[in-house]
Amino acid sequence: MKFKTLKDFPSDFLWGASTSAYQVEGAWNEDGKGPSVIDTSMHRPEGVTDFTVASDHYHRYAEDVELFSELGLKAYRFSIAWTRIIPDGDGQVNEAGVAFYHRLIDELLAKGIEPIVTMYHFDLPAALDDRGGWSERSTIDAFVRYARILFDEYGSKVRYWLTINEQNMMILHGRAIGTTGRSGDAPEKVIYQQNHHMFLAQARAMALCHDLLPEAKIGPAPNIVSVYPATCSPEDVIAADDWDAVRNLLYLDLAVRGSYHPLAWGYLSERGWEPEILDGDLEVLEAGRPDFIAFNYYSTQTVGASTGDSSDLQLRGGDQQIVRGEVGFYRAVKNEHLPTNAFGWEIDPVGLRTTMRRLWDRYRLPLIITENGLGAFDELVDGRVHDDYRIDYLRRHIEQIHLAISDGVGIFGYCPWTAIDLISTHQGISKRYGFVFVDRTEDELRELARVKKDSFFWYQELISSNGSTLNP
Ligand code: BG6
Repeated sequence: MKFKTLKDFPSDFLWGASTSAYQVEGAWNEDGKGPSVIDTSMHRPEGVTDFTVASDHYHRYAEDVELFSELGLKAYRFSIAWTRIIPDGDGQVNEAGVAFYHRLIDELLAKGIEPIVTMYHFDLPAALDDRGGWSERSTIDAFVRYARILFDEYGSKVRYWLTINEQNMMILHGRAIGTTGRSGDAPEKVIYQQNHHMFLAQARAMALCHDLLPEAKIGPAPNIVSVYPATCSPEDVIAADDWDAVRNLLYLDLAVRGSYHPLAWGYLSERGWEPEILDGDLEVLEAGRPDFIAFNYYSTQTVGASTGDSSDLQLRGGDQQIVRGEVGFYRAVKNEHLPTNAFGWEIDPVGLRTTMRRLWDRYRLPLIITENGLGAFDELVDGRVHDDYRIDYLRRHIEQIHLAISDGVGIFGYCPWTAIDLISTHQGISKRYGFVFVDRTEDELRELARVKKDSFFWYQELISSNGSTLNP
């Protein structure tokens, strides 16, 4: 639909930005922090930096929050490292770790920035992983205990909670992003059992949040793409629906409705991958309901009916955003209407509007975008970073949010990835997303100086006008 007049962004719209603990903090073993599966994983290619220092946000958080305040952020979405709070996942609480997030949250609140807290962003404690990780039901209890500690500690300060970041990507692309830990090449049967346990953990955390913090709001944070059929052939449409169910709706239905999506369940049981469901599990899933849906959006995916052989597969596939294909299930297709970024991710701003409309239509829960952004090889030249390509990317996505608001979609915030440069999941510091440049390379830490990029000033102006400078 084309509108003559667009609705305004809500006056309390949460213009924000995002990071995650292990990608930005560094200080990986300081002040009592335990190792996570990310710290022990070997998933990075040769020559790509590790996460030990990252952007050194742990030591420079006050300077960083000052920059976020200058940027005008209304919200900051970050994650808490489970291993700072409980170094081995389910043992003693580490008071120094607890104190760090109090300091960070207090600093944000003092600047009028709403903290949006992800409880678990890929960094499962390695000690839990050594004991079987998400394959074991004891990890569910460990997560719920950790959640209780977070609610008790920070509940009077934090209104918005996200449970598990991109559970769907941990299940589908765990090897690329380094979250599989010991289970490395575990068979799908095991992986989908782990998935089931994460759903139970999430549902219990949501129920606990509502019990302990009636004023707080909590939701899941999957990575969602709209899936397009390659053509209007009915078989392609069926393939798109099938893949949508397995990649997206499985995770959303479980979180929102507390039940397995029938197409996804059919996919699992046909392959013998369905999880074991114990007495009481369905009641637990049913009892955990979110207040909103947070989702990360980078791209869309296009698929066709399976040809039944290896031509279903797209060889460049293999990370969160590149559709892979599955022989006998669906065929991966390159969408010829969309450009790609330097890392092969298709860029589809209109797809964001489509995705928001579909989510709103299906679940009618308030939405917040907790990641969206452009990974690029930024260059620092004479003290400036001219990232006009990022401004263009963000502008075109925000325009679509504006249209979706006019469509009647309920959205209350936008937190692009990232507030400040950090380490990519598997492509190092060279793949940058931030509004603030961090001066370091893969192998040289330099001074880690912070430099405002051109996109910083652009976003600052956009926020201060509540979106009205979008189309001057
Ligand atoms: C999401 C993750 O998958 O995408 C982030 O939640 C990640 O942790 C982001 O960094 C961008 O992906 P990448 O692989 O470019 O770092």
